[in-house]
Amino acid sequence: SKLQDFQGKKVMITMGPTQEALDPVRFISNHSSGKMGLALAKSFLARGAEVYVISGPISLKFDQSKFHWTDVHSAKEMYEAAHKIHGLMDICVFAAAVADYAPAEVAKEKIKKNDSEQFLKLKKNVDIALELGKIKQPGQLHVGFALETEEGEKNANAKLDKKNFDLIVLNSMRESGAGFKLDTNKVHIYHSSGRSVSSEIATKSNIAELILDQIKSSSVWV
Ligand code: PMT
Repeated sequence: SKLQDFQGKKVMITMGPTQEALDPVRFISNHSSGKMGLALAKSFLARGAEVYVISGPISLKFDQSKFHWTDVHSAKEMYEAAHKIHGLMDICVFAAAVADYAPAEVAKEKIKKNDSEQFLKLKKNVDIALELGKIKQPGQLHVGFALETEEGEKNANAKLDKKNFDLIVLNSMRESGAGFKLDTNKVHIYHSSGRSVSSEIATKSNIAELILDQIKSSSVWV
């Protein structure tokens, strides 16, 4: 039945923002609330999967006990947690908004205010989806997200290829009702086969159901 159509599947979901420390009291981050990732986690669970969530800091209220849950802060911690379990997974969904850069140095003490301008040196973070895409095994299915402000279709398809995704979910900051924080989203889903589908504005819960249906219709689904 549709209700248990992911029974026997192990699913990993990265979600939420990452926080990259500058000093003991400050960090760089972004607006991800974790709502899209949590909607996916709940859908997979309801449809019978065993769900492993690796989440950046979020403030949503829900029952964690039904998931294998790992809390992380930085992109590096998220990568380490994901890498550790990746080999056991049937499906990996990369819904996290991972910081692409982190402060090159983390000050041991709180950085003092002074009268001059401050310059922040950043180093590149590990790209979790890219690295795990390199070790994806036959039968494993990787789903990426793309959050774009311009040239959505082109950028999403470039990420699909580069990161070895089987499908990618584009949400555009240009479309109202889509993206960060909201309870709704509007997406275009591109498959590596070239097929694509688009949604109307819908709740993140309904978008999650659509993504699961698209995973099942993928040529990689076994
Ligand atoms: O959490 P919400 O408030 O509900 O918002 C949901 C969302 C907008 C955060 C979500 O739907 C979403 O789009 N997540 C991905 C945002 C993003 O960082 O996209 P990107 O285009 O920068 O990254 C492309 C893909 O690579 C993503 O699957 C991302 O998780 C992954 N990535 C990116 C950088 C990195 N260092 N490691 C990664 O794994």
